[in-house]
Amino acid sequence: MGQPQAPEGAGAGTAGTAPVAGEATTTGVSVTRPPLRVGMIGYAFMGAAHSQGWRTAGRVFDLPLNPVLAAICGRDADAVRTAAGRHGWATAETDWRALVERDDIDLVDICTPGDSHAEIALAALAAGKHVLCEKPLANTVAEAEAMTRAAHLAGARGQVAMVGFNYRRVPATALARRMVAEGRIGRLRHVRVAYLQDWLTDPAAPLTWRLRREHAGSGALGDLGAHIVDLAQYLTGERLAGVSALTETFVRHRPLPAGDTHGLTAASAGGTTGEVTVDDAAVFTGRFPSGALASFEATRYATGRKNALRIELNGERGSLAFDLERLNELTYHDGTEPGEHAGFRRILVTEPGHPYLDAWWPPGHGLGYEHTFVHQARDLVHAVAGGRAPEPSFADGLQVQRVLAAVEESAEKNSVYTPIAP
Ligand SMILES: NC(=O)c1ccc[n+]([C@@H]2O[C@H](COP(=O)([O-])OP(=O)(O)OC[C@H]3O[C@@H](n4cnc5c(N)ncnc54)[C@H](O)[C@@H]3O)[C@@H](O)[C@H]2O)c1
Repeated sequence: MGQPQAPEGAGAGTAGTAPVAGEATTTGVSVTRPPLRVGMIGYAFMGAAHSQGWRTAGRVFDLPLNPVLAAICGRDADAVRTAAGRHGWATAETDWRALVERDDIDLVDICTPGDSHAEIALAALAAGKHVLCEKPLANTVAEAEAMTRAAHLAGARGQVAMVGFNYRRVPATALARRMVAEGRIGRLRHVRVAYLQDWLTDPAAPLTWRLRREHAGSGALGDLGAHIVDLAQYLTGERLAGVSALTETFVRHRPLPAGDTHGLTAASAGGTTGEVTVDDAAVFTGRFPSGALASFEATRYATGRKNALRIELNGERGSLAFDLERLNELTYHDGTEPGEHAGFRRILVTEPGHPYLDAWWPPGHGLGYEHTFVHQARDLVHAVAGGRAPEPSFADGLQVQRVLAAVEESAEKNSVYTPIAP
């Protein structure tokens, strides 16, 4: 597992210019860059976030290819046309198969629920496209295996496939990864990680697709747990050897939703209820091959916690801590300093030498959630242009899927320790 690629051709951003397809202006000089024509499927929460990423990446970073928002796809013709206008896409499709088959699309970006990831990704790879797929990679290990096999074969034809674990692309987490790799916390002992949200605390919150196994694969586990498993493995450079887990569904019936989701939830139709078929929360421990111990918590019932992804690593020489609700900061304790003035200190991760930062604003002018999607687009464009396998790869997504499956298996068997196939 590597570092984010160091920004190339760094310098002042080009925000404010209006490049046309294949054209970009950097530092006042017009250069021609080949286009990377993107077709995106799904246009709600992640669709909006990815649109920002594709729109912005080439205007801030000096990229070898110019991302072009060529086509957006959704099933409702009026709604997808509106979304195309709002988010800046040139054309709209109502059938993802038509989008995947278009000759003027180079990369397919999958922003739909997990039940369609495998089918779309397999078709896109077969059609010769590069693929970006939202997390979790799939709803089952079998689907993720098929996707990874297809990505491997497509890789031999020069196509790339990446999974959207965007929290690797927060400058502070990327810096943490760099510091771990530099040995600044020494031999790892503990990883403590929690991803806490609270949008289900109200039992009247409706039964959206995220609460049905056939659509989402699992609940808080696949949604939030997938992120923290990936992040913990990315930061440590290790892969979990096994887990011991508890899961729970606190509210088993909820009102049916009226219409589409907005963000995480939807309006309630009132009256009729349906069954929740996924976990509301997952708590598990894990073991890394180095001997380090890890604890994980993923829940949508942490009252008052909106999007608190917290991770702490304790090593023999020091510790690192991060909280997504303060995403411009990384906390570091250097255990080699004399005890009298040692302590946790805050690194404000806005310096030009920090990952991704040399293309953004002067020090102290912080970034936010949406920038992770800009960085994701940037890294993927470099991978496509360089013919390199991007990270996280589909194989990385498959391995996370195996961890999720092991968590479910352990929880079904009274928390028995469940090894994860390498
Ligand atoms: N990286 C992150 O931080 C993050 C955050 C939220 C969601 N996600 C992931 O992104 C994916 C989408 O989640 P979301 O929150 O954007 O969901 P959402 O409900 O907001 O949007 C889903 C979109 O997919 C469309 N869609 C569904 N099935 C379709 C089909 N067969 N053909 C065409 N369009 C279809 C819907 O109309 C909608 O536009 C999921 O895999 C989810 O786990 C990732």
